[in-house]
Amino acid sequence: MAKKIKIGALISGGGTNLQAIIDACESQKINGEMAFVGTDNPTAKGLARSQRHGIPHFAVDYGAIIKCYRANNADSPPPPDFNFDEILAKQSLFPKDAPVDHVRQFFITRAIAEADLLSEMTPYRFDLLVLAGFMRNLTPYFIDRVNAAENLPRIMNIHPALLPAFPGTDGYGDTFRYGCKVGGCTVHFIDYGEDSGPIIGQQAFPIAPDDTLETMRKKGLQKEWELYPACIQLYAEGRLQLATAPHPKEGEKRLRTIVKVLPA
Ligand code: GRF
Repeated sequence: MAKKIKIGALISGGGTNLQAIIDACESQKINGEMAFVGTDNPTAKGLARSQRHGIPHFAVDYGAIIKCYRANNADSPPPPDFNFDEILAKQSLFPKDAPVDHVRQFFITRAIAEADLLSEMTPYRFDLLVLAGFMRNLTPYFIDRVNAAENLPRIMNIHPALLPAFPGTDGYGDTFRYGCKVGGCTVHFIDYGEDSGPIIGQQAFPIAPDDTLETMRKKGLQKEWELYPACIQLYAEGRLQLATAPHPKEGEKRLRTIVKVLPA
């Protein structure tokens, strides 16, 4: 049997996706093992899950870092290897004409937090980093330091909507309020934008006339707990390959990165 992959996870909340991944590793649906669990939220309930399974865990308190930056009148220094111009050129979280002070504050505070995350992660070797309800956007500062090998992305995310519809923090809520008759979830690699990276897998489910947002969310989570481990297993089997395709709106003028799933 192929070597088990080592999986790091970042969470912010209850961690039911984390639990599904831990269980899938333990039942060998994923040929992998957990290396660590990190969070931006020291009170994340999901941390108890890592404790229960003996998985090393740590917290980097994003809220405290951002508060401290504001209290210091934006005087906290960014990490020594932070290059704002380079990050500005790469990022697609903000439009090009967004107020530069706001954008600078965002990327400096995130880079301070991300440098802490990276140093907490240093002791653990990992092949894949999964975002399992991690409610912070990662910036090019962090992404480039994790995706060090070209053409081998190693950060996955699960999003509670059928991307590219409804990116952002409330995928189920946005899908439901729009009056969609189908909801879904998407696993994708992270790129420099918000929920815009190449799609690995999706699962859809019907939204019935008598569904409430809560019942719809429950249906969605059930799908997430199947989809995420299945996509991680594709990664473990080496079956995910990046390819390029014409951009849906701009055609051959601008190529888009997509994921091809290789046959078993
Ligand atoms: C999930 O719906 C996930 O798609 C979204 O946040 C929620 C996290 O749930 N990003 P949990 O913490 O895994 O229970």
